[in-house]
Amino acid sequence: MATLLTRIRFVIGAVALAFVVACVAPVNAQQRNPDSSVNPTASAVKEDQLLGELNRITGRCTLPDQKACTIEQPAGRDWRHFHQVTLRWIGGISILGMLVLLVVFYLTRGMVRLEAGRSGRVLVRFSAFERLVHWMTATCFIILAITGLNITFGKPLLLPLIGPEAFAEWSQWAKYAHNYLSFPFTLGVLVIFLMWIAWNMPTKADIEWLKEGGGLVGHKHPPAYRFNAGQKMIYWIVVIGGAAVAVSGYLLMFPFYGTNIADMQVAQIVHGVVAVLFVAIMLAHIYIGTMGMEGAFEGMWDGTVDANWAKEHHSLWAEQEAAKAQAAAPQPAGRMQAAE
Ligand code: HEM
Repeated sequence: MATLLTRIRFVIGAVALAFVVACVAPVNAQQRNPDSSVNPTASAVKEDQLLGELNRITGRCTLPDQKACTIEQPAGRDWRHFHQVTLRWIGGISILGMLVLLVVFYLTRGMVRLEAGRSGRVLVRFSAFERLVHWMTATCFIILAITGLNITFGKPLLLPLIGPEAFAEWSQWAKYAHNYLSFPFTLGVLVIFLMWIAWNMPTKADIEWLKEGGGLVGHKHPPAYRFNAGQKMIYWIVVIGGAAVAVSGYLLMFPFYGTNIADMQVAQIVHGVVAVLFVAIMLAHIYIGTMGMEGAFEGMWDGTVDANWAKEHHSLWAEQEAAKAQAAAPQPAGRMQAAE
């Protein structure tokens, strides 16, 4: 049915183009050689003249979907160039650039070690609910990233390696995954926004933390509350970047609901650029959360961190937690009250 409709649209489009050409033809039909003989190769209507005419030529057709009548859409060429060239450059440079940076950083700085070693005492860092939301969002993000990158880079990189049949099969499943996982991912971003916003507002400590290079450059341990300035940046990138990819993604998933062709092209450009930059930035987050810093991963894995890790990386938070624990602890038997 869909192919039949496409064919009908194609035929109607072709007829409409012929109609427009026929209407404009008289303007140039009399193109002649200098000796006034007819020049048989002069095109009756030059394409650029046509394009200059309206920038977007529509024919007459009776299909209820008037978008099917658009037969010249010059902005589509700019969009195609963006999709096939510009986006690949932006994505390639940002993602490979970040990987190179992380490798260089690892080779020069190495893992940020626990300087005081392990204390053997632990602090609860993330509740089971926080970890569930984090890993659900992270899993969706990783699958969305791989399947999204397939849309941008699959054809030039993967297709020649695995051949057209396997590529078509994989791309079809990848597209299903990309569409459906967008829903739990959006939910995850929304819950992350609500659940951690209280700890992600800027404070004076963030300025000091940034001035000290966050302890990553050099070996200082600038004080930080539950989340340091670097983590707050990651948080806001996840929230704002997540919202941008979600909104632009749903505009693409439900085409032409309140959008026209130009809006759809803008949505695709926003989606593509934000997504590749998002992936590049999250690579840095994944690096710090795993091989970049000793003792960080366990906080998100089993929910606890060593007390020395807390002191070294989040000293203000460690103090707050100690004060809370003290306030909650049963008071030692008090002094006898003086009799009245
Ligand atoms: C394999 C992938 C990932 C690993 C290993 C990882 C690891 C971690 C760890 C260990 C923390 C806690 C840091 C701390 O205790 O201070 C954390 C926090 C966080 N993660 Fe991830 N994460 C991953 C992927 C993601 C993804 C894909 C997202 C979002 C799209 C995300 C969003 C966050 C946010 C917002 C925080 C709180 C702020 C921060 O610590 O930067 N994570 N992650």
